Amino acid sequence: MTDLHNYDVVVVGAGGAGLRAAIEAHDQGARVAVVCKSLLGKAHTVMAEGGIAAAMGNLYPEDNWRVHFRDTMRGGKMLNHWRMAQLHAQEAPDRVRELEDWGALFDRTKDGLISQRDFGGHRFARLAHVGDRTGLELIRTLQQRAVALGIDVYMEHTITRLLTGPDGAISGAFGYRRVDGEFVAWQAPSVILATGGIGKSYVVTSNSWEYTGDGHSLALQAGASLVNMEFVQFHPTGMVWPISVKGILITESVRGEGGVLKNSEGRRFMFDYIPEFFRAETADTEEEADRWYDDHANNRRPPELLPRDEVARAINAEVKAGRGSPHGGVFLDIASRRSAEDIKRRLPSMYHQFKELAEVDITVEAMEVGPTCHYVMGGVEVDPESQAALVPGLFAAGEVSGGMHGSNRLGGNSLSDLLVFGKRAGTAAATHAKASMAASITQEALADAEQAALRPFEEKSGDNPYAVWHALQAAMNELVGIIRNADEVERALATIEELKAKKLSVTGGRAYNPGWHLALDLPNMLRVSECIAKAALERQESRGGHTRDEFPKPDAEWGKLNLICTLNDDRSGIALTRKPLPVMPPELAEIFEETL
Ligand code: FUM
Repeated sequence: MTDLHNYDVVVVGAGGAGLRAAIEAHDQGARVAVVCKSLLGKAHTVMAEGGIAAAMGNLYPEDNWRVHFRDTMRGGKMLNHWRMAQLHAQEAPDRVRELEDWGALFDRTKDGLISQRDFGGHRFARLAHVGDRTGLELIRTLQQRAVALGIDVYMEHTITRLLTGPDGAISGAFGYRRVDGEFVAWQAPSVILATGGIGKSYVVTSNSWEYTGDGHSLALQAGASLVNMEFVQFHPTGMVWPISVKGILITESVRGEGGVLKNSEGRRFMFDYIPEFFRAETADTEEEADRWYDDHANNRRPPELLPRDEVARAINAEVKAGRGSPHGGVFLDIASRRSAEDIKRRLPSMYHQFKELAEVDITVEAMEVGPTCHYVMGGVEVDPESQAALVPGLFAAGEVSGGMHGSNRLGGNSLSDLLVFGKRAGTAAATHAKASMAASITQEALADAEQAALRPFEEKSGDNPYAVWHALQAAMNELVGIIRNADEVERALATIEELKAKKLSVTGGRAYNPGWHLALDLPNMLRVSECIAKAALERQESRGGHTRDEFPKPDAEWGKLNLICTLNDDRSGIALTRKPLPVMPPELAEIFEETL
């Protein structure tokens, strides 16, 4: 028996994108439900600690949307959808000011403006921040507003299927209540996916348990396409020790505030890894790098603030060369660069995190850090203006959508992305619902979805979902990680095929049964991992969050192509096609000639 609800817009996910979309759809007059796997207020959004990138010009009046647009495109190695990057750069400042109007308490400059800090790949200090807890403040603000507006929130519910009508358009979503295992369906003509990322397919990740690629997989199964799934971001600085907390994020703000990376020889090794593409704008001496923190005007950025893909690869290379820290990372030193008082004031979470979890006082000692799977640039292929996917009535916003960040996302651009495109998705979903007939889900569709969800209980001699999951994580971590080669990716694909063929068995009842929950999440992780591995094998170049050992440089021809994943004809696997990038109009192409 399935509980049935009726809405105009159902938002799947209650991170920043989901909440911003829900608020907007509500403000447009739609009846809105938010459905989330976890508790309201718990989302990976909180892991974007350092700030929201927006060219407000509070510290550097020279900053404007054109410079932000250029930095974002260059950070993504020009594979970003130019229109998304343009909208994002133009609209981010208004979204930050709006958040402040709604109660977000940003840190201030001496003049009382919203304070902005430095981050990798950004020409100017442009991250509006709340200490190193910006994502948390963003969620808190949006959550309070959504609750005040009376938006219905279904916490601890997991969606297992999107439902479509005979015309292929969205008619709703089906899922289960995690607490008691009862089934629930929401009839609605518009569904917005805001489910975040895929990190739980890797062993070492900053992502929390919810990030099993549900939205990516639901979209594929409903008939939508994914773009550029090969691009996975390994944040350069995750904790490496103790083992129990390996992967937890250390915010880029540590480097934004002046922290430097050193190897076991005490050397600031990032000077050895400045790529040609960023040489003109990167300092090549410690003296110049340090001057930049006080005055950006005539000085070039320190190499520690290169985009994340460059820094993660450099750390990886230092460790491989035997110059790593005792626990397989490198050292991140803020203690010798800033006063204890400044560190505690500007980076309070980092101070506490290391004190509590590692018994390290970062005002005195260096941290040990290493790359951690943080973000997927690939996602649902959407229309830039509306965030509409290929399936009528389906929208995607935030990390689950693709195109905005190209091959590599700049830090701070995710919080602004989810505000800008969350709002846009909310408007478009409400408009679509108004123009649509009332949605209707058939009894057969519900019965089929129920049966599929219960299958792991009926399978008596199948595999343990935890064993399958660990095998997948190991394959993705070892074989489709920061550096890839054809032989290893092919081995990963063979493992994924083997794991897909396994039947999963679970025991116990339906009330809060984590084994059953994992059995339902696993096909999503396998599907998304297949997309990543297939696209990684196909793209024979290195660019952003995809490095191929055999093809170490970007290739101009590949720079014109997106890779698109869809379900294959018999729905058993992933089909891959190449698609030309949309052409940037000349008035935007000119921005790359400007000197700021
Ligand atoms: O390092 C960080 O604070 C993360 C920010 C982001 O992913 O945007």
